[in-house]
Amino acid sequence: MKMLTALLGWIDARFPLTKMWKEHLSEYYAPKNFNFWYFFGSIALLMLVMQIITGIFLTMNYKPDAELAFASVEYIMRDVEWGWLIRYLHSTGASAFFIVIYLHMFRGLMYGSYQKPRELIWLFGMLIYVALMAEAFMGYLLPWGQMSYWGAQVIISLFGTIPFGIGEPVSAWIRGDFVIADATLNRFFAFHVIAVPMILLMLVVAHILALHEVGSNNPDGIDIKKHKDENGIPLDGIPFHPYYSVKDIVGIIVFLIFFAVVIFFIPDLWGWFLEKDNFIPADPLKTPEHIVPLWYFTPFYAILRAVPPIFGSQFPGVLAMAMAIVVLFLVPWLDRSPVRSIRYRGAIYKIALAIFVISFLFLGWLGTQPAGGVYLTLSRIFSVVYFGFFILMPWYTMIDKTKPVPERVTDK
Ligand code: HEM
Repeated sequence: MKMLTALLGWIDARFPLTKMWKEHLSEYYAPKNFNFWYFFGSIALLMLVMQIITGIFLTMNYKPDAELAFASVEYIMRDVEWGWLIRYLHSTGASAFFIVIYLHMFRGLMYGSYQKPRELIWLFGMLIYVALMAEAFMGYLLPWGQMSYWGAQVIISLFGTIPFGIGEPVSAWIRGDFVIADATLNRFFAFHVIAVPMILLMLVVAHILALHEVGSNNPDGIDIKKHKDENGIPLDGIPFHPYYSVKDIVGIIVFLIFFAVVIFFIPDLWGWFLEKDNFIPADPLKTPEHIVPLWYFTPFYAILRAVPPIFGSQFPGVLAMAMAIVVLFLVPWLDRSPVRSIRYRGAIYKIALAIFVISFLFLGWLGTQPAGGVYLTLSRIFSVVYFGFFILMPWYTMIDKTKPVPERVTDK
């Protein structure tokens, strides 16, 4: 023990180890009223680590070569010891990661966690979300199955719709060829295993630094720093460690139980987490009947297809899809409500948020259906609802009747 203390002293004289531990864990005062929605940040961190570790082991046997990629994944599944588990942890893990992220973002919308002074936490979060989409998209090409190939073909050709002769060179530049090819696979591999994960890690550090600078919001949306004791410690705050470090373990275990059930019994979740067509090797000469991205992209895919082409160009749809993500960045400035938490907001915001969630889920389902007939009509309706939620936000959050916010957290 004495030696350990001495070692720590030696380190502390040279590196701020104890200082950082205190600042971010044992003396980071978090509101005492966190509920289960606050698990998802920690679970997202867990998923990020899990994806990186399983990714490293996959890379040991995967071959980023159009001739060898598909077979190397089969080899991992059949011959590498525990390879099937590592692969499913990674592929099912990607979907689980998105579920966790969507719940984490929804919590932010519920409790107004993006409002002043937490705008940057939200913006870093949104950059993480975009990076995560890029990461998942490029990862999906690697097994070189039919859907890997044709999904990438469809998405990259969207860049080709950019007008003024810019589009085609841009999409050829991204692919490194005129179609998806070995060059595309190689560069996607480089981005997927090192470039984007590094960006993600840096963004997550920035996200948490911004959070710890201003302090966490809470289900009441109350500023706990307004009431401090004589030592400057928030009266409604408790040290993150040990209180929330231990509490988060409970959330993590419950999450892992659900995750394990899927991994061991339905790792492809009936085609939702791994599409059936992706068990067929990529064939550049045979287009699958329905080209559908994985579920976490389908709400945006539905918006893309909902917009009719203008003068034969798909560009307006591409623009709408991009705007569907851009508006999310703007939420901190679109929300004019004087209160943060949904607990003290009026009926209008509650209804608006509920309708938004329903439209997002429906768009997700419609994105997996053929783009015609009633599906197309519904996609158009829900796309309008989706954008309505954001465009009308400054207005309805201003007129919404709010309830008085208590001075101190209610700790239900
Ligand atoms: C790799 C992905 C992510 C990781 C590891 C991560 C991690 C975390 C952690 C550990 C917290 C503190 C615990 C908690 O409040 O749940 C947090 C808070 C927060 N995150 Fe994330 N996050 C990620 C993505 C996102 C995204 C995509 C958004 C939204 C666009 C977002 C928005 C927020 C907000 C607003 C808070 C503050 C919540 C509050 O204090 O009420 N995060 N994040």
